Amino acid sequence: MFFHWLEKNPFFFASAVSIVISFAGLIEIVPNFAKAAQPLVDMKPRSVLELAGKDVYMKDNCNTCHSQLIRPFKSETDRYGDYSLSGEYAYDRPFLWGSKRTGPDLHRVGNYRTTDWHENHMLNPALIVPGSIMPAYKHQFTNLADIETAYAEAVTVKNIFHTPYGDEFQGTRAAWEAYKPTVLAEAAAIAADMKNQDVKDAVAKGEVPEIVALIAYLNSLK
Ligand code: HEC
Repeated sequence: MFFHWLEKNPFFFASAVSIVISFAGLIEIVPNFAKAAQPLVDMKPRSVLELAGKDVYMKDNCNTCHSQLIRPFKSETDRYGDYSLSGEYAYDRPFLWGSKRTGPDLHRVGNYRTTDWHENHMLNPALIVPGSIMPAYKHQFTNLADIETAYAEAVTVKNIFHTPYGDEFQGTRAAWEAYKPTVLAEAAAIAADMKNQDVKDAVAKGEVPEIVALIAYLNSLK
């Protein structure tokens, strides 16, 4: 009888719905205040090159087809590795859990794919994985990644969220110029494992094609 009464009283019905929904929301939100999402011990924030790659990943909408969240089911841990822990995302702003798996989960792809594999796959997925419906991303081999903005992102999360970036992360141009060689050295290490000569030449000139940053990011997903 209570339900009949409730259904005929829109105001109380709406209030009851709100209570149910807020309760469901609280179950998701409260654990984070209880510090469940603390960084894991020994966890380092992403490098500037990896951050630039994460920006490419977001710009090219990889997360519309790929999740980064391995659930605690045997079918998933058998395929992808250990299930994801909330603390692993502590430095990710934003985190890229995603909600759709047209392609496989990528949270630990760095454990089983390599630089040269990604290079070939991003250029022509169907050539590497027959029947693949993933689009090719040829433009990433010529477009340049924005490593300066990625550096600024690191400075920002350091200042706002106290993400543990070192003293080299100051918001000045001089500090960026001093830090840039570190990013280029990291890019050179990735390019050394690639075969595309244009990419290698660009890196030798001090430029960072998007594909180099993206691969650094994918390799860091472990
Ligand atoms: C339209 C959906 C779609 C988009 C967008 C997409 N992918 Fe994929 N991706 C797939 C599918 C389907 C597969 C499985 C077939 C294959 O390996 O090519 C896949 C496979 C992969 C794999 C191999 C994973 C493994 O475990 O073998 C990687 C790495 C990957 N994608 C990275 C990316 C990146 C990086 C982007 C963005 C630049 C991206 N994908 C965008 C659909 C997509």
